[in-house]
Amino acid sequence: MEEQLKNLASLLEKEIQALDLPKSPENLYNPLRYFLDFGGKRIRPILTVLGAEIFGKTYDDVLHAALAIEYFHNFSLIHDDIMDEAPLRRAKQTVHEKWNANVAILSGDVLLIKAYQELCKQEAKHIPDLISVFNKTAIEVCEGQQMDMDFEQRNTISISEYIEMIRLKTSVLLGCALEFAAIISDIDLNQRQAIYNFGQYIGIAFQIQDDFLDLYADADKFGKQIGGDIISNKKTIIVLKAFELATPLQKEFLLNLQQITNAEEKVKQTLSIFAEIGVKDEVVALRNHYIELGLNELHSLKSESTNKKKLISLVEYLKTRES
Ligand code: IPE
Ligand code: IPE
Ligand code: MG
Ligand code: MG
Ligand code: MG
Repeated sequence: MEEQLKNLASLLEKEIQALDLPKSPENLYNPLRYFLDFGGKRIRPILTVLGAEIFGKTYDDVLHAALAIEYFHNFSLIHDDIMDEAPLRRAKQTVHEKWNANVAILSGDVLLIKAYQELCKQEAKHIPDLISVFNKTAIEVCEGQQMDMDFEQRNTISISEYIEMIRLKTSVLLGCALEFAAIISDIDLNQRQAIYNFGQYIGIAFQIQDDFLDLYADADKFGKQIGGDIISNKKTIIVLKAFELATPLQKEFLLNLQQITNAEEKVKQTLSIFAEIGVKDEVVALRNHYIELGLNELHSLKSESTNKKKLISLVEYLKTRES
């Protein structure tokens, strides 16, 4: 990540660390202290701040909305890790593993409410719009998460079904982060839609990259379990592309793989058949396609091109990220 963006991330990090949580009940608040401690990339609040800069506003103008997005995101991760039975997050044990699922549900809930509390610290005239966009987004994330789980049980998922699922589970939140900036900057609806679309497109690219990293990341940098998606039969873009490009024989092999119960063996065999089929290039091309669509939206915004520079460099970082 470029220096300016790193500085912004560390400013936001300080705000997150300053979140004042009560001491007790310890089993409610310690998991949150533990989870928020460090390691998140803080992409979404960075988007809100950079979005504000596009429209001539500042960090301080959008800080609470930016924090709300990050708290919501962290809430969704704590719950997502229960649903995905994930052992690792940000190179640490997940909350439900270190404590238990009930603790993860309840401490996650607190973080969701913290998000609303932050939103309510923005200027009163903006709050109804902020809450309305936030509510719509939160419900869409639930819809996407349900689709993601439903797809585990199905073998034929089209690319367009997949894109809709990741649009909902992941990209609407990036759109929302940017729309918050537009709302607080009192920008007209056209521009508001354009910056939201930018967020959605790069959010789709972001999830494609996330799917890619699930198998191809460097384990030391990734911070999550390698192959977690494969173990739970997620229909990630890698899997869909593999099915699309496979010969009938390879397809049969892919279907049989889903039944393997030994996780290590399953991931190993998956990696080898994917290498044989050759899936990487197509996945990267699709990711880049959505980045291009996003950049077109960004270029359409009425703002000095110098204001867009940091967002463009963030988009570049999203392509090369390793965690
Ligand atoms: C992970 O998001 C969940 C997805 C939507 C792919 P991030 O990759 O932004 O997670 P952190 O906050 O940086 O850990
Ligand atoms: C996460 O998708 C989306 C949400 C948290 C809503 P993933 O399940 O792919 O995210 P990771 O890989 O666990 O971070
Ligand atoms: Mg997950
Ligand atoms: Mg998930
Ligand atoms: Mg993932």
